[in-house]
Amino acid sequence: MSHALSDMLARREPGYSLERAFYTDPEIYERDLEAIYYREWLFAIPACQLTKTGSYAQLQIGAYNVVIVRGADGEIRSFHNSCRHRGSVICKARDGQVAKLVCPYHQWTYDLDGKLIWARDMGPDFDPTQHGLKPVHLRNLAGLIYICLADEAPDFDTFAETARPYLEVHDLHRAKVAYSSTIVEKGNWKLVWENNRECYHCAGTHPALSRSFPLDPAVAGVSADGSVPANLQAHFDKCEAAGAPSKFHLGGYAGQYRLARMPLEEKALSYTMDLKPASRRPLGRVTVPDAGTLLKFHYPSTWNHFLPDISLTFRVTPIGPQETEVTTWWLVDKDAVEGVDYDMKRLTEVWVSTNDEDREIVEANQQGINSPAYVPGPYSPIMEDGVEQFVDWYVKTMQRSLSPRSVAAE
Ligand code: FES
Ligand SMILES: [Fe+2]
Repeated sequence: MSHALSDMLARREPGYSLERAFYTDPEIYERDLEAIYYREWLFAIPACQLTKTGSYAQLQIGAYNVVIVRGADGEIRSFHNSCRHRGSVICKARDGQVAKLVCPYHQWTYDLDGKLIWARDMGPDFDPTQHGLKPVHLRNLAGLIYICLADEAPDFDTFAETARPYLEVHDLHRAKVAYSSTIVEKGNWKLVWENNRECYHCAGTHPALSRSFPLDPAVAGVSADGSVPANLQAHFDKCEAAGAPSKFHLGGYAGQYRLARMPLEEKALSYTMDLKPASRRPLGRVTVPDAGTLLKFHYPSTWNHFLPDISLTFRVTPIGPQETEVTTWWLVDKDAVEGVDYDMKRLTEVWVSTNDEDREIVEANQQGINSPAYVPGPYSPIMEDGVEQFVDWYVKTMQRSLSPRSVAAE
């Protein structure tokens, strides 16, 4: 398979969508997980989701199951959700709050820092210190929890140091989750991304979002030569002069992440139907009311919008070759009161609709690709440079994983 896969990657035609098997084949799906989801840093949850000691979130990524939990010392840690006795899952719910992590099978009990503190009738030679929960790499980047499933995690600091100043002004340590939603899109994870990386479809698909989000391809995409149009540069300069890092930054291997604070449509201050702020009590310290949205994507797991009033973060988790989970969090200031500072429907309606509209088009895209009649089609050089950029990142990242020498040489 790896031969066939490397041939398929090598013969990919730039400027065209991928061959059918990349979106359908269970073996390629497994390779995607191994080469990308089991190796890269992944956005998991906003830290503010774990409000109390013992609050946890459970996450399935391919074959792995992970629990992320806030300890008594306030630290957030992550563990493989597999008991060190005979392997049972410990936390079965997707989220909750516990005093200790107790295995449901024989009640081995772990502290919130993963230490085994109780195991009945294991005899005098049993050493509990050798049976703590296996940790998963975790980093808290300005309130965004990232994890990495690899034994040896790749560098996170370069990305973190670049992204931190952009994020810090949004004060995610002051955030609370006003709302979250999880939907399943019946499409390969790469189709979810390809759809996210262009707004060629927006005018026809997203009537609510199009009121505030510009159709200008320079906003959603990436310019091939790295140039920035004058109107966007003026916007970056205005926001930066007011203390909000904004300028376009594409970084990481093959452009794995992008940061840029982009203007919204004229008069739009947030993603609301009336274009006014979604919350009267802003989250963060961005003082320019029309600063627009700090767009951050970080392949393969997250895209985000950070606005002067609220923040939105999205997580992309593959479930199967033709199934992907998309979770969205709406974050507001912790002192914002529902019904006073924000109205839940006004806050959420634009992106609830947008997510559902995207689900429908991704599913239709998958269905059409499933036909043997599908052949790769050309990207618009004007509207779809972001899709090309994503596919390019995917192909290069897969090629790198198939070629151990190129990894060693980096
Ligand atoms: S498998 Fe967890 S206590 Fe036995
Ligand atoms: Fe969309």
